[in-house]
Amino acid sequence: MTTKLRLRRRNDRFTDLGPRKKVINRLVEHRLIDRVSYEQYRDKVRDVYSGPQGALLAACSFVSGHSTLGDRLLRERRFDLRGARHILDVGSGAGQIAKHLLRYSDPEAELTCFDLSHEMLCRARARLKSHRPRHIVADIARLPFADASFDCVTCGYVLEHLPDPRLGLAELARVMMPGARMLLLATEDNLAGAWTSRMWCCRTYNRRELFDTCKKLGLHWQKELWFTRMHKVFRAGGICVEIVKQQP
Ligand SMILES: C[S@@+](CC[C@H](N)C(=O)[O-])C[C@H]1O[C@@H](n2cnc3c(N)ncnc32)[C@H](O)[C@@H]1O
Repeated sequence: MTTKLRLRRRNDRFTDLGPRKKVINRLVEHRLIDRVSYEQYRDKVRDVYSGPQGALLAACSFVSGHSTLGDRLLRERRFDLRGARHILDVGSGAGQIAKHLLRYSDPEAELTCFDLSHEMLCRARARLKSHRPRHIVADIARLPFADASFDCVTCGYVLEHLPDPRLGLAELARVMMPGARMLLLATEDNLAGAWTSRMWCCRTYNRRELFDTCKKLGLHWQKELWFTRMHKVFRAGGICVEIVKQQP
């Protein structure tokens, strides 16, 4: 069932250059992504995650509650993994989402995890202690997978490391089978998101902007999700949505 998207009124304030951001958010948000080429920016992101900050990623996810809240989302089948046969975990990091995938997907489902940073994948492998996932170093903007390879995708807080979401979303749409589902989590353009962007050297997304981009690529927002009822009331926790790739 298609959920009506209740995009906030403020998200409708667009300029020719995209959605207007509050001054405070603009001041706090990390801006490197706007100043250098994609290749230079990607190298910087790889260095951040491969270094000491990346080593703290799993602990940060635990402290922020994302790890526990993500586990709950999948355990309660609000994003239902049952029946998925070929699962892709995008930008796996320390394996925070892969850990839940191992627990809640069908045991025979194939699990592929990729990340820009080889070091992050090593950390994920050490944490997961499982031979089930295959780990691949890859850039979301150029995926080494055939068209229509996956029937389920999880993409947690990776798209915000792209200057333009189309770079990654078009690739994900390509490797998804028609009817495949994706759990997409992304940092939103509010004050909390701006601080997150400063910590992790990324950008933020306007909900409406991301929705429109997905639509153009045939990625339909099936259901907006919230970690808890409180997150829904306060519109907190960032963008969390179930997406379905449209049949051609
Ligand atoms: C904030 S972590 C997210 C980890 C995990 N997915 C989660 O939900 O907690 C972002 C991860 O995306 C990876 N990443 C950033 N840019 C990427 C790109 N262009 N291609 C693939 N992975 C990328 C980083 O190396 C990092 O491990």
